[in-house]
Amino acid sequence: MLISTSISRYHRTAMHSVAASLQLLCLLLSLHRLPCSGAAAATASNFSSCLVSNGVTNFSLPTSPDYTGLLNSSIFNLRFTLPNVPGPAAVVLPESRDELRRAILCARTSSLAIRLRSGGHSYEGLSYTTENHVPFVVADLANLNRVRVEPSSATAWAESGSTVGKLYYAVGRSNRSLAFTAGSESTTGLGGHISGGGFGLLSRKFGLAADNVLDAALITPDGRVHDRSSMGDDVFWAIRGGGGGSWGVVYAWKLRLVPVPRNVTVFTVDRTGPVELIAGLVHRWQYVGPNLPDEFYLSVYAPTGSTEGNVSISFTGQVLESKEHALSVFSQSFPELGLTEEDLSEMSWIESTAKFAGLSTVDDLANRRRQPKQYSKSKSDYAQEPISRNDMVEIFRYLSTGPRGSIQLDPYGGAMARIGRAETPFPHRAGNLYSIQYGVNWDRSEVARAEEYIGWLRSFYKYMTPFVSKDPRAAYVNYLDLDLGVNNWTRAAGGSSQEAVARARSSWGHAYFGENFDRLIRAKMVVDPGNVFNNAQSIPPLNIRAEE
Ligand SMILES: Cc1cc2nc3c(=O)[nH]c(=O)nc-3n(C[C@H](O)[C@H](O)[C@H](O)COP(=O)(O)OP(=O)(O)OC[C@H]3O[C@@H](n4cnc5c(N)ncnc54)[C@H](O)[C@@H]3O)c2cc1C
Ligand SMILES: *[C@@H]1O[C@H](CO)[C@@H](O)[C@H](O)[C@H]1NC(C)=O
Ligand SMILES: *[C@@H]1O[C@H](CO)[C@@H](O)[C@H](O)[C@H]1NC(C)=O
Ligand SMILES: *[C@@H]1O[C@H](CO)[C@@H](O)[C@H](O)[C@H]1NC(C)=O
Ligand SMILES: *[C@@H]1O[C@H](CO)[C@@H](O)[C@H](O)[C@H]1NC(C)=O
Ligand SMILES: *[C@@H]1O[C@H](CO)[C@@H](O)[C@H](O)[C@H]1NC(C)=O
Ligand SMILES: *[C@@H]1O[C@H](CO)[C@@H](O)[C@H](O)[C@H]1NC(C)=O
Ligand SMILES: *[C@@H]1O[C@H](CO)[C@@H](O)[C@H](O)[C@H]1NC(C)=O
Repeated sequence: MLISTSISRYHRTAMHSVAASLQLLCLLLSLHRLPCSGAAAATASNFSSCLVSNGVTNFSLPTSPDYTGLLNSSIFNLRFTLPNVPGPAAVVLPESRDELRRAILCARTSSLAIRLRSGGHSYEGLSYTTENHVPFVVADLANLNRVRVEPSSATAWAESGSTVGKLYYAVGRSNRSLAFTAGSESTTGLGGHISGGGFGLLSRKFGLAADNVLDAALITPDGRVHDRSSMGDDVFWAIRGGGGGSWGVVYAWKLRLVPVPRNVTVFTVDRTGPVELIAGLVHRWQYVGPNLPDEFYLSVYAPTGSTEGNVSISFTGQVLESKEHALSVFSQSFPELGLTEEDLSEMSWIESTAKFAGLSTVDDLANRRRQPKQYSKSKSDYAQEPISRNDMVEIFRYLSTGPRGSIQLDPYGGAMARIGRAETPFPHRAGNLYSIQYGVNWDRSEVARAEEYIGWLRSFYKYMTPFVSKDPRAAYVNYLDLDLGVNNWTRAAGGSSQEAVARARSSWGHAYFGENFDRLIRAKMVVDPGNVFNNAQSIPPLNIRAEE
């Protein structure tokens, strides 16, 4: 093997002078906000020796000049780049499935916690942080990003490190009438996104990304690779919506592609006016959006703030029909929106995905470009009853006083309501009108005010209590929110206890998964009873005998 890169110099340093460099390594670790003890330094150098002797060459230690760049590369939420957030003992970027397996096994023999990263879009940074300063490594799948489309069978195999945009690009280029159903941000990784469900503009017609998984390659804690049949029913069920980071590494997904017309109809329209007028439109939308035919997606985005007494919203639409048909349905079902023919355009589905991802060209979908990053905090809810007109007015007044932020209302109904709530771990099916995503964001100059902004978000969320789902107050696992509760592991392999399971169940467990939580516990005990794959909101095993 050719070892001639700058990284490999650091491998050799770490490998050949373990004893002599412990002190130096310790110093460097402390510079990188890592626990500075002889044991931690020994663990890190043990890990790098293990990688090198197993032929895994693309990794970076805190002593390497490219460490910060590789660690930062896909961190979407800058809140987790601040100095109080401990960094990993190594970032490893496997180049093949087999290297990924060996990297996992090396982390285990070195007693390092493992954090898996595909697109780095976790709202709470769970793919590259740990609790309680437990030493850890980031296994980053960025180099495992191939997509192979088989248009004749309308299927695709995609490695988890691929982005949603790269998948869309490959699918749309293979056949103008093929698509995949998943989210709209092009740089989201398939590893985390599909593990947590994956809602997007086609979900009212075809369900979530996770509803369209036909098979998967899962690397389990023992380093074996399983397919759908060898992992067993409970585990294959759990990985399709039970949240990333709990089950093993999903190396790749086999996906069912879906048919779309050669052109789809799309629009974004903005509406500005006094609170009463705008809240009135959103009030009406609640009766329209979730009840339109499956081919119609119509969502609402409302930024915080106001201008001279006016507030603004925008409606985003995608319709799997012609312009004429779309217009006639909207003018009957939602005349208040006042949609006109000029608002609508027809384009291929792949062009629409580039448009909704905010990209100027279709080719940009395939690029893991440097995305605009931000400091942010989000929360989510489900509305099961329409909110009254008066309450909607008060909600918009509240929103108009907030710091920079927004709410996004996504319509459910259609296929989302027809798929049974126990078919996958994602329980938010029939009975849910729409999801609500709340967010605040700020920039570098406002970091000192972060707690104030997050505090506003939490009070707004509290204010919304009477209007949303209860017992449990539901939330979407892809919109991770650590306010709901956390595991608090103090070891690399988290461990287990009845208490941890009870705490998880009564907080985020029921919020994200409802009645499906107990089957997730069973799946965890089949695939990872030792809790090797854990994070602040992973599914804990219930193993009352073998508390490590
Ligand atoms: C700008 C933006 C837009 C978004 N839009 C949507 C949307 O339209 N619809 C929607 O449903 N969601 C959306 N999300 C949420 C998104 O789906 C989740 O944040 C998702 O978990 C991100 O996946 P990732 O691979 O990029 O994240 P990562 O941070 O890499 O991973 C997220 C979690 O999954 C685990 N994980 C990562 N890779 C693997 C793997 N290969 N095997 C097992 N576990 C793994 C991680 O350990 C972590 O716990 C959006 C997020 C952002 C930031
Ligand atoms: C390791 O992978 C990263 C991400 O793709 C890449 O930028 C870097 O050049 C790779 N390093 C080596 C030594 O191959
Ligand atoms: C990584 O991100 C942090 C926070 O934004 C920044 O201070 C640092 O300069 C970044 N490092 C690199 C190499 O991009
Ligand atoms: C280093 O790794 C080996 C296996 O490669 C393991 O047996 C040993 O206990 C580890 N030592 C430390 C200090 O972690
Ligand atoms: C393209 O996909 C559609 C289904 O959406 C299918 O009917 C058609 O046969 C496909 N065309 C080719 C050339 O594969
Ligand atoms: C407020 O909105 C109304 C439309 O409802 C518009 O006529 C008016 O110009 C807006 N005022 C400002 C200051 O934007
Ligand atoms: C799609 O719509 C565009 C813009 O209206 C039009 O030019 C093109 O002919 C349409 N293509 C198909 C295949 O209908
Ligand atoms: C987590 O555990 C640590 C160490 O045991 C403790 O100091 C901390 O308070 C705990 N945090 C929470 C949120 O329980």
